Amino acid sequence: MNKPAFGLIGIGGFAREHYNTLRYFESEGWLRLAAVCDPFIGEQPELEREVRAGGVRIYHDHRAMLESEAGLRAVVVATPILLHEEMLLDCLGSGLFIYLEKPPVPLASQLQRLIEADRRGQVSVGFQMVDSDWNQQIKSWIAEGRLGEIREIRVVANWPRYDGYYRRASWAGQLVQGDRPVFDGPATNALAHLIHSAMYFGGAEKAEFARPVTVQGEMYRVRPIPSYDLMCLRAGLPSGATVFAALSHAQQTPAPYRVEVIGSEGWCSVSEEHKILESSFGAFTLREMPSGMLHDGYVSFCQWLRGQRERPTTRLADAEGYVWTTNALLASSGGIHTVDPRWYRTCEDAPGRIYDVHGLSEALADGRPLLYSERELPWSVEPTVVPVENTAEWRGRMDRTFQVVTGGGQAKEGAAAEFVTAG
Ligand SMILES: NC(=O)c1ccc[n+]([C@@H]2O[C@H](COP(=O)([O-])OP(=O)(O)OC[C@H]3O[C@@H](n4cnc5c(N)ncnc54)[C@H](O)[C@@H]3O)[C@@H](O)[C@H]2O)c1
Repeated sequence: MNKPAFGLIGIGGFAREHYNTLRYFESEGWLRLAAVCDPFIGEQPELEREVRAGGVRIYHDHRAMLESEAGLRAVVVATPILLHEEMLLDCLGSGLFIYLEKPPVPLASQLQRLIEADRRGQVSVGFQMVDSDWNQQIKSWIAEGRLGEIREIRVVANWPRYDGYYRRASWAGQLVQGDRPVFDGPATNALAHLIHSAMYFGGAEKAEFARPVTVQGEMYRVRPIPSYDLMCLRAGLPSGATVFAALSHAQQTPAPYRVEVIGSEGWCSVSEEHKILESSFGAFTLREMPSGMLHDGYVSFCQWLRGQRERPTTRLADAEGYVWTTNALLASSGGIHTVDPRWYRTCEDAPGRIYDVHGLSEALADGRPLLYSERELPWSVEPTVVPVENTAEWRGRMDRTFQVVTGGGQAKEGAAAEFVTAG
């Protein structure tokens, strides 16, 4: 079989994981890595030498790569979030299949533009967690009805993030950069997979993702960044099920992610820590992936490219549940609330400074799906319930909310709730 030629946009940061995975699949005969593009590759001379030695052409501008590499079949976009919209539109113009890193884009209006531009359905969004063995197993149980009616999906995690995480890139911890939305934070970057997986489990059919009808949630800034590092939400789904999420970077002790799906006939849960899928049908050990965390996502992408699968696991429209939920979260929260220094301590660990919020570790550990304000944590602010509608008017309202919150690059306390209520 003719091996499809791939281009990779971005090669440092998480894109390095893509480079290594592409090399692995190349060595296994699945594909050929033809070109990479990164304006900053010169900052990694050893990597640059390795890339050249492997016969891979190097570009510093993605448009130059798309113009010169007529033989490309697919391209992987693994660049900062704020560049995704523009790069995806450029790649779609070249007729390529595209693996777009998650999150696709920050705002519902941006996602709608991309969905409309992707007329031939050539984009796969790289939420690789939904391709994992445990995600696929849970989804099969749901689609086969083995869990009965799904009542609740809970995702909880704290991944501590130290100074270095925020210093690694200029967009880290930002809401916007220039005029481009970033919306960096636990629910919209590092732990976004969990919200997307919850939407996957909320969809009844095998390939279906749920979209929320209401969202109620809270967003907080503990570390002094323009964006947020702590959130919780409850989303109502059309089926009557609820999604509960509590995701944080603002606690010293890690809380590895925990996912629970509760149905009328059964339940299941996964713990990142124990690498085990427990359920009312028994416990299953999760398997190691041969080429690392992107492995299953690449298998599924390559199979789709070969025509062995009808569609990618996450098409752009399948990410609507995730994007709508996180947009409505910001509106429901009334922007991002700054936690008063009375309610956190800072700790100097070997990797740098970390912020640790009073009462959070107990809230994340006890498993009850309660918003922080329902727990009456002293720093919490009660949210409103925001209805979600699949209309241009609603997306426009979410855009305006984002603009209000990011006015002048700095979040304004409380402004968004008033704005959204007023429509
Ligand atoms: N799937 C996952 O599990 C996972 C994990 C981490 C990050 N990510 C995602 O990966 C993406 C990149 O995140 P990151 O933290 O690695 O970002 P980053 O800022 O470290 O950048 C990644 C790379 O993009 C390059 N880049 C910047 N501008 C570019 C341009 N104009 N053209 C080509 N390359 C350019 C940078 O030089 C860098 O090498 C984000 O969407 C992030 O959410 C996904």
